[in-house]
Amino acid sequence: MAKTKFLVSRYDAARDTKPYLQEFRLEIPQGATLLDCINLIKWTQDGTLTYRMSCRSAICGSCSMKVNGHARLACKTQAADVVIDGAVTIEPMGNLPLIRDLAVDLEPFFDSIDRVKPYLVPDESRQWKREMLQSHDDYRKIEDASTCIMCASCWSDCNVLEVDPRFLGPAALAKAQRFVHDSRDSDTIGRIEFLSRVTGMWDCTHCAECATRCPTDAKPLFRIKELRTAAMTHKITNNNGARHVLAFRESVGGTVPGIGGGMLNENYIPVRSVGFFNLDGILSIIPVGVRMIIRGKNPPILPHIIDKFGEVRAMFRRFNDYRKEYRK
Ligand code: SF4
Ligand code: SF4
Ligand code: FES
Repeated sequence: MAKTKFLVSRYDAARDTKPYLQEFRLEIPQGATLLDCINLIKWTQDGTLTYRMSCRSAICGSCSMKVNGHARLACKTQAADVVIDGAVTIEPMGNLPLIRDLAVDLEPFFDSIDRVKPYLVPDESRQWKREMLQSHDDYRKIEDASTCIMCASCWSDCNVLEVDPRFLGPAALAKAQRFVHDSRDSDTIGRIEFLSRVTGMWDCTHCAECATRCPTDAKPLFRIKELRTAAMTHKITNNNGARHVLAFRESVGGTVPGIGGGMLNENYIPVRSVGFFNLDGILSIIPVGVRMIIRGKNPPILPHIIDKFGEVRAMFRRFNDYRKEYRK
């Protein structure tokens, strides 16, 4: 069997100014995982190769690394499945400071988890005589988020973190959903208010990388959607993100007379999103508006109404009826 080319990122701060790819050749044993192959390289070719691993069973979350550009658990990846044109490229996770070779500093990731209070806040006013039980239905609301193994794959590939390291990040938001929806927790509103701040749930851009890369059912993007639904349900809407959602509904659904008609009113949405009485917010978006006018990209002042607006309205009505029915 032909040997596969393993291009592995190497970096030693004492010697290198920046990471580089080192080539190793290995015949992939039948059924071997990528971690098996990396171990073989370390044990038979270069004992200095540095990376993290422990369980080899996709449980401990320590072997996440970038494989051909995207984060994966090395122990949950069949090596043969990731070979492209006879080669596989292995690099450290993204959005985290590099320590050595494939090992990164996970402090920013764990700090983000700490920020969402990853523990139950019980109602102290109640006299607990026994452990707090949950129904199966209540548990189902937190079951998916509970499967997170803290591997940081989602963090590695999150587009928002790449441009704003203050963002809470997908795993912390998934962890937060697990407590916001926990029937035994007493701090639901406080949690949602915290998560609604800048750098919280509304800063996610729905790129879906986290859900694609997550090796468990935690799938942060879906948890973030559940958090946003909780924010709207609890009417915690005094922030740009929630107002933006309301603006879309008002514009597309035409629920505010004269504002929209089946499509986005792009004059209304930015102002509604920052808040009509938020002078600083409005001043902050004026330069964008001016640039749009200069480049001829400004939308028409009077909103256009689409031909089949009646059908859009009917969809909104049906959705509202469904919501009322669902909440009974
Ligand atoms: S969906 Fe949101 S949280 Fe997930 S990776 Fe994209 S921007 Fe980050
Ligand atoms: S949410 Fe998924 S990808 Fe992110 S740390 Fe948890 S298990 Fe890993
Ligand atoms: S070694 Fe534990 S998850 Fe891969």
